[in-house]
Amino acid sequence: MSGGHSTYSPTTGIGRWMDARMPLPRLIHDSFISYPVPRNLNYAYTFGGILSLMLAAQIITGIVLAMHYVSDTTLAFQSVEKIMRDVNSGWLLRYMHANGASFFFIAVYIHIMRGLYYGSYKAPRELLWILGCIIYLLMMATGFMGYVLPWGQMSFWGATVITGFFTAIPLVGDWIQQLLLGGFAVDNPTLNRFFALHYLLPFMIAGVVVLHVWALHVVGQTNPTGIEVKSKTDVVAFTPYATIKDAFGMIVFVFVFAYFIFYIPNFLGHPDNYIQANSLKTPAHIVPEWYYLPFYAILRAITFNIGPIDSKLGGVIAMFGSIAVLFFVPWLDTSKVRSAVYRPWYKLFFWLFVANAIFLGWLGSRPAEGSYVIMAQFSTFYYFAFFLIIMPVLGLIETPRRMPNSITEAVLEKNKAGASVQPAGAAASPEVKG
Ligand code: HEM
Repeated sequence: MSGGHSTYSPTTGIGRWMDARMPLPRLIHDSFISYPVPRNLNYAYTFGGILSLMLAAQIITGIVLAMHYVSDTTLAFQSVEKIMRDVNSGWLLRYMHANGASFFFIAVYIHIMRGLYYGSYKAPRELLWILGCIIYLLMMATGFMGYVLPWGQMSFWGATVITGFFTAIPLVGDWIQQLLLGGFAVDNPTLNRFFALHYLLPFMIAGVVVLHVWALHVVGQTNPTGIEVKSKTDVVAFTPYATIKDAFGMIVFVFVFAYFIFYIPNFLGHPDNYIQANSLKTPAHIVPEWYYLPFYAILRAITFNIGPIDSKLGGVIAMFGSIAVLFFVPWLDTSKVRSAVYRPWYKLFFWLFVANAIFLGWLGSRPAEGSYVIMAQFSTFYYFAFFLIIMPVLGLIETPRRMPNSITEAVLEKNKAGASVQPAGAAASPEVKG
């Protein structure tokens, strides 16, 4: 996975024996020890590592939960209560897994936003980005199916609403819905196939992550300047520099995660999911998990017919389109400059995009009526305009700021600037002087 020249030389007999047969230690050494990374990576670049940690945590807690869970509509809800009360540390496992899903999404959103800010998707990293988009889609499907398993009210009604979208698709819509449900309504066959797929998909995600990291190691990481590595002074070895930084990022992230697990474990969930599913009692508001809310708002923003497309199908197209557009980002951004650091206008529109996405999420949690719908329509417009109008046009007309010639020059310039703002008389640190 290193993509470059190997510097590994086994020092022991067993090391040489292994190297001649299956050079796994060489692969690990070249990918995670001697692998060169830009010397100016900041903490935004630790989220890939954090995501790997979260994926592992989800798989491990999920496997143990599955040892106690029963995927039958008459027993699923009770089996989850049994995990919470009777299984040793079952409450911890379940809270880790449920909050873990949320924290996995927090990390992936920061990771994607980092990519959009620093232009990580630009050539030659298009495939790396697309593999990321595939991971994100798989994560969404996994999260959705997992939420159905406890067989609470939101599980049941969420599944009913979401699978109902598919009926908007002309000709094949009803057939797709029945295939998903295993029948004509959410019931035992639905629960069983969702459980089977919820167990399978994380391993598919793990497989795509391997491809993602492989692609990354072929093209190398970007960095906040967006300037490619030009000389040896631009890089440092992955270990210890990036490993220590990643480990520190992970520890801080795990502390916040632990706070949620131990102090506010139900903060991100919905109280209705502690009521067993009842097909005769519809909850007042059916809301998906927080990480789907922006897309839910986009779905419900389309309240009008567009030519032959009725509003229901229009909403479904807009919702899937809002994710599909991510795949085309490498070609939508026409700017020659990669990083937002040197693009003042893009930076402004980017932060507006982030604020707008959070606002859309909030709108998704509100009932689809009155001014909420109108605001969601404006927000949906900005969401698409950012990708389809701002990215292509701004790249052609924006005047970027002056850029340093290399990563090393950027780092030295920053250090010089740091030295010049030292208060008069204060001793500059050795790093700043150097
Ligand atoms: C399970 C989910 C994921 C895992 C485990 C993962 C893992 C990683 C790792 C370890 C890195 C290198 C460290 C870093 O730059 O943070 C990375 C980089 C990257 N990831 Fe992901 N990733 C995931 C999801 C995604 C998604 C959803 C996207 C985009 C839609 C994405 C796009 C990228 C890009 C473009 C880079 C290169 C960054 C750069 O060098 O500027 N990743 N990923």
